[in-house]
Formats: sequence, C-alpha cells, structure tokens
Amino acid sequence: MNESSIGVFDSGLGGLTTIKKLKQYLPHENIIYFGDTYNLPYGDKSRDTILDYARKNISFLERQHVKLILIACGTVGSYINLLKSNVPMFDIIVPACERAAEITTNNRIGVICTDRAFKSNSYKSTIENINKKLYCAQQACPKLVPLIESSYNTDNTDILKTFIKYYLTSIIRDDIDTLILGCTHYPVIHNLISEITGEKIKLINPSKEIIRTLIEYMNFHNLNNTHNRTNNINGTVEYYVSGNPDEFRQKAQLFLNDNIQVTKVRL
Ligand code: DGL
Repeated sequence: MNESSIGVFDSGLGGLTTIKKLKQYLPHENIIYFGDTYNLPYGDKSRDTILDYARKNISFLERQHVKLILIACGTVGSYINLLKSNVPMFDIIVPACERAAEITTNNRIGVICTDRAFKSNSYKSTIENINKKLYCAQQACPKLVPLIESSYNTDNTDILKTFIKYYLTSIIRDDIDTLILGCTHYPVIHNLISEITGEKIKLINPSKEIIRTLIEYMNFHNLNNTHNRTNNINGTVEYYVSGNPDEFRQKAQLFLNDNIQVTKVRL
C-alpha cells in the first residue's frame, strides 16, 4: 500500500499547482495525475455534470490502485460530500479556509473561485462554520480559467490583468485582509493577482495548504512511501489527460519547468 501512488485530478493545468507542492514537500511519493482536459472548463458546468466527471475521474484513479485521492479542484471539491471512493479523498477547500481563518487579523476574508464553486457556497459556508465572526466576500471569476488554459504559453498578461482588476475591485473595497485563490488554476497567475491586491492582502494558495493535511494523515496512517524514502529515490509522476496530450504537455512543461510524458485516456 505504501508504495502505491497518490492520485490527483483536476480539469487541466490547475492541478499542476498541487503537483508542484507535492513534489516539493513529499518528494518520495509516486503520483498519478489526471487532467480532464477534454471537458474543461469545469467552472461553467452544472452540478450534475461536475459530479458525473468527478465520478469517472475517481474511478480511473481507483483502477490505478492509488492509495488516496487528492481532488485538486475547488469546483469538484465543493461537492466532495456527494462523492464516494474506496480510498480516502481530500479536497482543497477546508485547509485553505482554515489557514485563512488563522491568519486574518480583521476577520474579513475574500474568496475568488469559479462560477460553480461560487454557486455551491462551499467556501463561504466552510469559513462561517469555522467561526461565526468571520466575514466572507466571494467573487466568481468565470473568464480566468479559460484565459489561463487557452493562452498560458503566450503573452496574455495585459488581458489577464484587466480581468483580475475587474473581478477584484469590489472585494478589495470590502476591506478584506486575506484572499483565498479558490480555484487551483489561480496560483498559476499568483504574481499578477498580487500586483493588483498589493502587500496588505495575504494570498492563500490552497494547493499549498492541502499538503499539511495530507502529511498529517499519511504520517498517522503509515502511508508514506518508506521504500523510496529509505533509499532516497525520488517519486515518479505519471500524467494522463482526456484531451490533446501534446497541447497539455507543452503547457505543463513550461509551468513545471520539467520534461514530462503525457498519455491520453478515454474515460
Ligand atoms: N482548477 C479547477 C478548480 O479549482 C477547475 C477550474 C475549471 O475547470 O473551471 O476549480
């Protein structure tokens, strides 16, 4: 069991922000990544469609005998309570909200996310459950994922900045001191977002926060890959997508600064 892989999925590039952190903090773990690029973006789909995609992704990863599944997607994570798996599953929402609650000093937290995550109210209700005193300002940013995906390897800085400004203006005015990047695609443009939010607003990257939860769980349940760790062997990462593998590979290599192989699968 310990040597089995950690399964990770998202609609596309966003999940790679989680892969980067996994490789950094759990370098001995083997990972299987699935990007449902044929169906992206997820954020503008209905709840039932998202659940249907998620169930297929989970069952693909289960067939690879992963030891646990990381839902590296705020949109799918919003419905984790409606999903089942024969291995433990983790979403990015709770750790991100807990971290925001820890570091806010004025109890005013902002969340940017996809339209579907916004409609599910997942971030807002999680934050309010942590502490009733916390105020949460949510903003859906429907254009960001399509823009990040369609032009990641081109210079689209100006158009992205225009949209970020447009989406962030009202929640910045709402006096938040902490902002959750509630979609895993957003840390890809972390620098552009922080240029607009400025130094006073602290940004939370959910792909980083989930790692703490995962490490605690794996330590407690003896799930670490002790073979690789003892022999100081780096874990492997296998990449699978449902859409065009070359397109994904080009963007992913740029983002990860690494050469990778990508296999297309039909679910
Ligand atoms: N990266 C995903 C999320 O965290 C999915 C975004 C999308 O495909 O719209 O929500």
